[in-house]
Parts: sequence; C-alpha cells; structure tokens
Amino acid sequence: MNEPIVSLKVPRSQRLKSATHQTHDALDKRIMAADIFASKEHFAGFLRVQYRFHRDIEHLYADAALAALVPALGERARLLKIANDLSDLGQRVPGSTAPPATLGQDIWRSLGWLYVAEGSNLGGAVLFKMARDQLGLHRGFGAGHLAGHPEGAARHWRQFTHALDSIVMDDMQEQQLIEGACHAFVTVRGYVESELPQVADARA
Ligand code: HEM
Repeated sequence: MNEPIVSLKVPRSQRLKSATHQTHDALDKRIMAADIFASKEHFAGFLRVQYRFHRDIEHLYADAALAALVPALGERARLLKIANDLSDLGQRVPGSTAPPATLGQDIWRSLGWLYVAEGSNLGGAVLFKMARDQLGLHRGFGAGHLAGHPEGAARHWRQFTHALDSIVMDDMQEQQLIEGACHAFVTVRGYVESELPQVADARA
C-alpha cells in the first residue's frame, strides 16, 4: 500500500531535485560521454572524480550538528570504499588539493553538499550494474562504493529525504541548502573535466 498523502505542498527534497535537475542531467551526460566503462582505466578516472568529491566532504559525515539532522550519518561516508575500489584497480588515490572555497560556510549549505553525495547513490545503482556487466567489477572488487546500502539504495535514500523534508528551515536557509547543492555539482563537474577526457579529446 502507498504511504498516505499528508500534504499537497511539494516536499523540500523535490524542490531541491527540481532546482538541480539541469545540472545533474548535464553532469550525467558528460560522464557517460567519457565512456567510463570502456576499460578499467577509464573507470578509474571516474573513481578519481568520486574520490576527490568525497574527500572534500568526508569531515561532514563526522559533524555533530549534521548528525543530529541526518540518521546514521557516519555510516554513509564512502571515501574509504572509493579508496579500496581504486586500490583494487591498481590505482593510487589522487594527491591532495585545497578544499573548495564554497564548502563549509554553514550547516545548510553543508546539507546541500550531502544531498548531492547521498543522491548520487541512486545513479550509483545504475552505474554499478554497468560496471558489473561491462567490466566484471563487483561489491568486493572495484565497485564497492557503488554497491548500495545492504537495506537497498532506495530505502536508504528515502530515510535521508524524509529527514531533509522534516527539518524546520526558513526560506533563506532553504536557499542556502540549494546553493550548497549547486556548489557541490559545480565542484564535481570540475573534477570530471580534469579527470575524464571527452572521448573526442582523448582520440585527438
Ligand atoms: C553517469 C553518471 C550518472 C547517472 C547515470 C546518474 C543517474 C541518476 C539516476 C537514474 C538517478 C535517479 C533518478 C532520479 O531521481 O532522477 C539519479 C539521482 C541523483 N543523482 Fe545521479 N547520475 C549520475 C551521476 C551523478 C553524480 C556524479 C552525482 C553527484 C555527485 C549525482 C547526483 C544525483 C543526485 C543528487 C540524485 C538525486 C536526485 C533526487 O531524487 O533528488 N548523479 N542519478
């Protein structure tokens, strides 16, 4: 049976999705255009993108104020899994760089960054199947960080969005949340540009 409808107002998580839809779509297309499943080396480029993004936000998963808002926050961190995926493929983790200036301004923007990281698990489920079918990777080798939560990626995501939708926030705070999510997408896009050559560029 479906959950009962308790309000006709669009939930905050849906507003966030709409506000970032175009950026997500462009990022998704750009990553797929880089042919990340063509070889394990191509896929390692995608892992480096993920590593750099998750290294930026690793400290958020240990943040007490955020932990009071998001259930099981500490267990959601994936940096170690990404490091292991890289190691499985015989690759080193990327060298350290300065954290993005747009990160760490306030809790609402930080929550926006977390939204992007947590939401990417949904696309991750699609990517996991492709990595498995095209490269033979799996939970225990090379694609552990995409394998999804044992309870199911969708369920894990619903717990996050439920928490996000339940937080009392004024309009300005919600605007900061959206801004944080946009900054996160821009940052990931930057990592994609440096780690994943467009297929046409690579052939040039
Ligand atoms: C080729 C790469 C990707 C594919 C194929 C992909 C695909 C998807 C799919 C199928 C969904 C669930 C359907 C939907 O709700 O729209 C989704 C959701 C999402 N993805 Fe991606 N994605 C990719 C990369 C990324 C990356 C790199 C990020 C950010 C780092 C990201 C962030 C998100 C977010 C935040 C959501 C949740 C949207 C929401 O329901 O609020 N995705 N993605």
